[in-house]
Amino acid sequence: MIVLKSEDEINRMAESCRIVAEVLEGIKKIVAPGVTTKELDEFAESFIRSKGARPAFKGYRGYPASVCTSVNEQVVHGIPSPARLADGDIISLDIGVYYRGFYGDAAVTLPVGRINGPAEKLLAVTEKALEAGIDRAVPGNRLSDISSAIQACAESEGFSVVRNFVGHGIGRELHEEPQIPNFGRAGEGPRLREGMTLAIEPMVNAGGWEVVILSDGWTAVTKDGSLSAHFEHTVAITKKGHDILTKL
Ligand code: MF3
Ligand code: CO
Repeated sequence: MIVLKSEDEINRMAESCRIVAEVLEGIKKIVAPGVTTKELDEFAESFIRSKGARPAFKGYRGYPASVCTSVNEQVVHGIPSPARLADGDIISLDIGVYYRGFYGDAAVTLPVGRINGPAEKLLAVTEKALEAGIDRAVPGNRLSDISSAIQACAESEGFSVVRNFVGHGIGRELHEEPQIPNFGRAGEGPRLREGMTLAIEPMVNAGGWEVVILSDGWTAVTKDGSLSAHFEHTVAITKKGHDILTKL
């Protein structure tokens, strides 16, 4: 069942989502060669707690940190560590916040120092794929219109979309119905309606779509070792269109 939110509930969700956006904005300023992913996690956790909010991922199914930090060929769910970022890396940062009854969830992939042309293109296309998906997130469209727009955008540039992880409804729970695959044919699934709140999150690989989970039980990496990027926003469907709640 898809839980529809009232305008008042969406306004409250917007507050958790704003904290997510603020953390990401702050973290962007400290990502640099030499910084450890653990330091990024510590920054995020103390920022979130200073707002009276709680990091949504910490403890979720035993996940040990507040942020997922996925570097280079890591797709999602990379665990913060004392490893230092290097010039030319890309890093995906995924952040969830719980505040006064509601969740917010967003992710970006950032360059560390100077990155090469192919990596830059992967970041730009993945962000564009998220925008293409969000464009279709309007009342009257069907859920898979989002999926198919994301897939078309990524594949038209020679990249592939990850199959094993999907976007999701979000609200009083971090993961609600519906699941939102980043691939599929348009025109299928439930009709989008005012009050739906969706975390749309394409994961795009420079090579093949297959992923492998490392022995830590969390970190997903590309099977072929190619680079991977991840962008995510929490979006509310409104009467006439949508609001991107995790955008400042
Ligand atoms: N954005 C991801 C999701 O919504 C992050 C979950 S990470 C976890 O599924 F650690 F909480 F599992
Ligand atoms: Co999510």
